[in-house]
Amino acid sequence: MIGTGYVGLTTGACFAHLGHAVVCADIDVDKVQRLRAGDVPIHEAGLAELVAEGLESGRLSFVVGGANAVCEADYVYLCVPTPQGDDGSVDLDYLKAAAAEIGTHVRPGAVVVNKSTVPVGSTLLVEQAMGRSDIAVVSNPEFLREGSAIADFLNPDRVVIGSDDPAAADLVAALHAGIGAPVMITDPASAETTKYAANAFLATKLSFVNTIAAVCEAVGADVGDVLAAMGCDERIGKEFLRPGPGWGGSCLPKDAAAIISIAHGAGYDFSLMRGVLEANDEQFKRVVGKVASVVSLPGATIGLLGLAFKAGTDDTRNSPALEVAKLLLARGAKVRAYDPAVAAVDIDGIIVVDDPYAATEAAEVLVVATEWDEFSRLDLDKIAESMAARHVVDARNIMDREALLSRGFSYQGIGRN
Ligand code: UGA
Repeated sequence: MIGTGYVGLTTGACFAHLGHAVVCADIDVDKVQRLRAGDVPIHEAGLAELVAEGLESGRLSFVVGGANAVCEADYVYLCVPTPQGDDGSVDLDYLKAAAAEIGTHVRPGAVVVNKSTVPVGSTLLVEQAMGRSDIAVVSNPEFLREGSAIADFLNPDRVVIGSDDPAAADLVAALHAGIGAPVMITDPASAETTKYAANAFLATKLSFVNTIAAVCEAVGADVGDVLAAMGCDERIGKEFLRPGPGWGGSCLPKDAAAIISIAHGAGYDFSLMRGVLEANDEQFKRVVGKVASVVSLPGATIGLLGLAFKAGTDDTRNSPALEVAKLLLARGAKVRAYDPAVAAVDIDGIIVVDDPYAATEAAEVLVVATEWDEFSRLDLDKIAESMAARHVVDARNIMDREALLSRGFSYQGIGRN
């Protein structure tokens, strides 16, 4: 397993759990040392336990550098970051470097698997960077969600394998035999496109939901009722229909931008997807507009509940909470924030406190930006007493609106009046 980020570590720990011998490599020496001691650097339900189980059984080990992991491997998974370049394109430098590093060390007969999210043509790119035309490179995109990564790995909706080499595809399929999900074998371009298409569709669904919420506000409808009824149509589905402050994370924004760039490079203007991204930027601004509708922002103190991009993770990459906070700061507000999983952020001006009540104390507006359960169970009397004014902008629709109104708060959710 080359790379011990979300994907590599989850995949490695899960394969060890399934009985395989797994060696995980990373270039970060400190991280490897921590992992060897069972210290998992990310907040992911069940992952620390699986890593401990793998270390204990001897089936999971950690080394520095890809070259040290691959010599005896039957399968080599490339799980390195593929960040967004300046123009929205995918930066493949880590992938190329990892492939070049392992090139001469991979044993004949092994299969190299692209698990990172990579544009069409990347199996060939890896083959070339390895300098090995004798090694099959297969695309096997991951569909894990942070917060439920292990369950998603062990019970996936599907396993997608893209290869022009049927024997190599079968070898990768065999690894998933115990998992019981449909295995779909296709060509590399289709497998690679599937990953972007899935994330682009999810992003589209969320931008649609958030814009429907805006329509609901305009016409006096309740988005919760509208979406619950819409979701009963099996063609639409109940999942992924929660309105929010905008969508974020390390994947959806990057992959949405990437598919626009990939399509552009191939001569197609993906204008629908551009609209999806614009709607998301608008959503951050709409949340700030709600705050500005109840308080004059310059000098105002805003209590922000939530920094992670969603509940169940400590990941703040492209977090809507931070997008909202940055806009508030830019308009002269002061932001005091609390998140149960995030102790600090790298943004000047956001004061991170270690208690939700410390975030709301003396604030004029309370903004809920991440849907942590504990935020819906806060002591509202305590908050009412300590705030300088009683206003709530509930960008996740998780607070008890009636309970807030009865304590003299103004309440604004998303898509509900
Ligand atoms: C996403 C995809 O859901 C995974 O299938 C994919 O494998 C992964 O990216 C990836 O490419 O690695 P993840 O980034 O963990 O997973 O996050 P999501 O659960 O998709 O949430 C993304 C954003 O949408 C978050 O900000 C979340 O709060 C928001 N969201 C999600 C909503 O606002 N409403 C919803 O109903 C669901």
